[in-house]
Amino acid sequence: MIDVSNVGLRFGARKLFEGVNVQFNKGCCYGIIGANGAGKSTFLKIISGEIEPQKGFVNIPKNERLAVLEQDHFKYDEFTVRQTVIMGHKRLYEIMKEKERLYSKPDFNDEDGILLGELEGEFAELDGWSAESNAEILLQGLGLGEDYYERPMKDLTGGQKVKVLLAQALFGEPDYLLLDEPTNHLDLNSCRWLENYLMDYENCVLVVSHDRHFLNKVCTHIVDIDFSKVTLFQGNYDFWYEYTQLSLRQLKDQTKKIEARRKELQEFIARFSANASKSRQATSRKKLLENMELPEVLASSRRYPFISFTQDREIGNDVLFVKNLTADKGNRQTLNDISFTMEKGDRIGVVSKDEVAVTHLLDILAGVVPESDYEGEVKWGVTTTRSYLPKDNSEFFDNCDLSLVDWLRQYSKDQNESYVRGFLGRMLFSGEEALKKASVLSGGEKVRCMLSRQMLVNANVLIFDDPTNHLDLESITALNEGIKKFPGSIVFYSHDRELVNTVANRIIEIVPGGIIDKRMEYDEYLEWKAENMPE
Ligand SMILES: Nc1ncnc2c1ncn2[C@@H]1O[C@H](COP(=O)(O)OP(=O)(O)OP(=O)(O)O)[C@@H](O)[C@H]1O
Ligand SMILES: [Mg+2]
Repeated sequence: MIDVSNVGLRFGARKLFEGVNVQFNKGCCYGIIGANGAGKSTFLKIISGEIEPQKGFVNIPKNERLAVLEQDHFKYDEFTVRQTVIMGHKRLYEIMKEKERLYSKPDFNDEDGILLGELEGEFAELDGWSAESNAEILLQGLGLGEDYYERPMKDLTGGQKVKVLLAQALFGEPDYLLLDEPTNHLDLNSCRWLENYLMDYENCVLVVSHDRHFLNKVCTHIVDIDFSKVTLFQGNYDFWYEYTQLSLRQLKDQTKKIEARRKELQEFIARFSANASKSRQATSRKKLLENMELPEVLASSRRYPFISFTQDREIGNDVLFVKNLTADKGNRQTLNDISFTMEKGDRIGVVSKDEVAVTHLLDILAGVVPESDYEGEVKWGVTTTRSYLPKDNSEFFDNCDLSLVDWLRQYSKDQNESYVRGFLGRMLFSGEEALKKASVLSGGEKVRCMLSRQMLVNANVLIFDDPTNHLDLESITALNEGIKKFPGSIVFYSHDRELVNTVANRIIEIVPGGIIDKRMEYDEYLEWKAENMPE
């Protein structure tokens, strides 16, 4: 059992947690939920020991093993995929390395022999002989076949690395498994595989996610981080949601009743306090009124940002012209002789089974890939201005020493602080919050900043690569509304079906031979495909 006792933590003036008492037990899967910036990742880091709480402590039995989904995608670049997975079990990996060293020792002596015997014993106990095949089973489940086992990590794409790191965390069935947004970079099949894996997992899982479907499938408990508190609920996400909605309604009803009673009392007092025969009653009602308290309504960290994109100038008739575009990435072809013309009013939803190809296309359209790295022509109309929200935003934030105000100011023509703060405020960074360092932002907060940047730029073409990744539900809703209302042109990919359905009026699907290009909404496109190209 993990025992979290009286834990408290604050960053400057901001109180993240106070008096947190909670236990995590074997056989349960805890879904950790809360708004962007509520403190979910920080809470996992406190449990894994990466961050020390300022108050309280976390107790984990010494003989039990805890594994964390590694967030640093470059840490294992020099190791092979198979090694990286096995490194998930530190002790087992140490033994393997030590055994290797001893066996290859030219001056092998008796002492080495004894040590080797001990190591072999421990190795067998830890099921070391099955380590390689166990690692392979995990990799295969996540869709990485044999060709990958001996490749160095540095050759893999971001999405593939995440799969290996996930296999690393799962390897050796740790007693406690800590996963921070594991589905973010997974394709649909791998997501389903992970769901099934976690449903059957016998030890304890703590998983942060914004994905309701996923949480409903895997969780036995929900841990909600809000109001600087950590609250445990038994049941899945839907249960938590119903329960909190009901409590909220009850609280509102109660407040309404008390308010009505107060009004009655106030009226009575106003009418009769000057009346000598009733003044005693009026006085006693005054007391009653003074003692009447409304239930406390705490400010939730779940809030809607305000997202609205405007354009400096209206777009002309020529928007985008793509001809015979062919490109490779990581020794394979991603785009094969693609041609299309984008017209004014087009809102293109790019879809594909191959997310790497989608990102490559959007990177090329956004101009972040040098022309020498692809064949063919990509020409934007002279009246167009573009702004891009890439899938990987790390280069905007890593090692960045600027405050949020200065970070956003880099992209603003108007350098006035109050102007820039206006955009940050819409994205829920106000007061002190706008002065924190860009490098400490949570995953969702980074996306909110990238959206502020896009709102500032006033481009007439917006390019998005999976913009709802990392965002909480409130931000996703606000973003969806903002994009729907944008008057200019849009090219985007999103795994959020609702967003694609409500925004796109043209679908371009990247397929192995090229593209399928249809002027229709996504649902209609899926019907068309089912009829005309049954798989
Ligand atoms: N060193 C720091 N100094 C100041 N503030 C910090 C620091 N580290 C984190 N924060 C802030 O603490 C809050 C919690 O961050 P955390 O990453 O735990 O959020 P989260 O709940 O995981 O959010 P998300 O859903 O976006 O991933 C954020 O507002 C973040 O900006
Ligand atoms: Mg987080």
